[in-house]
Amino acid sequence: MNLAVFSTKPYDREYLTLAQPSSSSSESRPHTLTFHDFALSPQTAPLAAGADAVCVFVNDVLSSPVLHALHSQGVRAILLRCAGYNNVDLDTAEKLGFFVANVPSYSPEAVAEFAVALVQTLNRRTHRAYNRVREGNFTLDGLMGRTLAGKTVGVVGTGKIGLAFAKVMSQGFGCRVLAYDPFPGEAFRAYGEYVALDRLLAESDVVSLHCPLTEATRHIVNGETLGMMKKGAMLVNTSRGGLVNTESVIAALKSKHLGGLALDVYEAEGALFYQDHSAEIIQDDELMRLMTFPNVLVCGHQAFFTEEALTEIAECTLRNLDDFCSRLPCKNSLVKQGHVLVRQKSLPVRI
Ligand code: NAI
Repeated sequence: MNLAVFSTKPYDREYLTLAQPSSSSSESRPHTLTFHDFALSPQTAPLAAGADAVCVFVNDVLSSPVLHALHSQGVRAILLRCAGYNNVDLDTAEKLGFFVANVPSYSPEAVAEFAVALVQTLNRRTHRAYNRVREGNFTLDGLMGRTLAGKTVGVVGTGKIGLAFAKVMSQGFGCRVLAYDPFPGEAFRAYGEYVALDRLLAESDVVSLHCPLTEATRHIVNGETLGMMKKGAMLVNTSRGGLVNTESVIAALKSKHLGGLALDVYEAEGALFYQDHSAEIIQDDELMRLMTFPNVLVCGHQAFFTEEALTEIAECTLRNLDDFCSRLPCKNSLVKQGHVLVRQKSLPVRI
């Protein structure tokens, strides 16, 4: 199979190449991988010509026009090397008969551990201490944090990542954990209590988002829900940028109602993340404003970025491609013959 890999970074190339079967393997032959360092978009879709399948990541665009362009060039499979698929028009993909598969669970712990790292960096100001000490400044003013033990942590979405995060916060830090999920799962009950979203927001010292981005969850954090949060609470988003209304969080930070914000994802990240813009004038005024707050921490969508996760992403992506090639049922398929098999569970948000 010819696979066109979009948004490729050196580590994608390395791990996908390592996951390929060796050319001497008796069971399967390596695929032909063409690596593109740019994202898939209406402008770049023609560059998939000659490919049987495309491999994409979180900020590649798989809108209806892009899917039609891919289809007319003979592309028949879409392999997401990520869990979220909010960037794919699944209805159109299904109508065109595309095979679409994701990597649903490559290392939930990698993302959960990163969310924990953000909580503690922001809470204990280790990012500021690091810079200060390097300049010979050993003062503690402005570095005061709060002991997490006994505090209340709110988890929005208790799937694989939310569950791993809840486990660390309850069993590791000794926090009381509240969760909101329209599809409650039994496993979470070992770590905390399910409550309505308004109660979670009102009682939590830390709110961490772990639900997918869907029409129901877009801007789940907005002026109204921020107003329901406890004054001085911290918000952490390692899920998808579109969950948070940036304008509203800026207002909540300025009024000091929101006590801290840690983002690994950002709603307009597609134009910036995964690229070096350090020598440019960044035009995104909202992101630039966010970065002026001392109680805001922004990372560039790196929560998944561990050796273990990259290995599993590469191996699972190629297993999905093998299933497509051999016409075997694929457990990670998102569409099949006119039926969407797996759609992200989502209900209108109940506050
Ligand atoms: P999952 O599918 O296992 O869990 C999602 C949970 O959210 C489910 O329990 C679902 O019932 C719940 N949910 C659905 N609608 C909801 C709503 N309106 N309110 C509250 N909960 C709702 O997904 P997983 O693996 O835990 O991943 C969660 C998200 O994390 C992904 O959708 C993805 O966007 C993000 N992610 C971010 C990464 C990063 O590097 N920053 C890496 C991997 C995933």
